[in-house]
Amino acid sequence: MTDTEQTIQSGSMIDLHTHFLPKIDDGSSSVEESLKMLADSKKQGIDICVATPHCHLHKESDLEHFLRRRQAAFEELMSAAPGSGLPAIYLGGEVYLDNNINKYDGIERLCITGTKYILVELPRQRLERRITEWIFNLTVKGLKPILAHVERNDLDELEEMGIWDLDIIFQLNAQSFLGFSERRRVKKILARDKKFVVSSDMHNVTNRPQCMLRARKVSERKFPSLTEEMFGGNGREIFVGAEPIG
Ligand SMILES: [Fe+2]
Repeated sequence: MTDTEQTIQSGSMIDLHTHFLPKIDDGSSSVEESLKMLADSKKQGIDICVATPHCHLHKESDLEHFLRRRQAAFEELMSAAPGSGLPAIYLGGEVYLDNNINKYDGIERLCITGTKYILVELPRQRLERRITEWIFNLTVKGLKPILAHVERNDLDELEEMGIWDLDIIFQLNAQSFLGFSERRRVKKILARDKKFVVSSDMHNVTNRPQCMLRARKVSERKFPSLTEEMFGGNGREIFVGAEPIG
């Protein structure tokens, strides 16, 4: 049995939507908090953690600015990180789709380290149909979009927009598995024949902490046939051949 097969059997998890980089967005407020978030993740069985700080692009230079800030936060964190006991770290961004991000040069630099996968977030205001086209155009460029916390959106609106017809990955937040009414929405979404991943979207160690293990346990009871692929397998495929940055 290979190492990867052994890890999969032990129920390890992938977390590809998090805000653990220090002082870059509304996530971790200090290096200490970041390290605690990562240590909690490792303890819960997560062996890969992707940092996805919020990324808003409104002009060409915003992309470079984001990457510089992300690198600085990452280096500050790594300078204090212990040599072992943390998940493997990859960098990405949670890219806000309030305009057509295809127009910015180098948009592929926002993909998760060493991969073609890019995490995108739908805007909070009323959605417009052309967003579907923007996401589709990312795929035309050869990128592989992951739609962040899909359960937050109006499901009828997503239907009208044709979002479900896209060949992309749909990400659900672990927190949504923990409450009864949220879980009903999750159940509705999971009835679709799409590729899903569950991630934490953790922001801190207080009110939005790592909760993947709790969510996984609930999922094992409620959605047993989908749990392994949603918490591990589908995410793991993304990282085949991609080396972590930290
Ligand atoms: Fe997020």
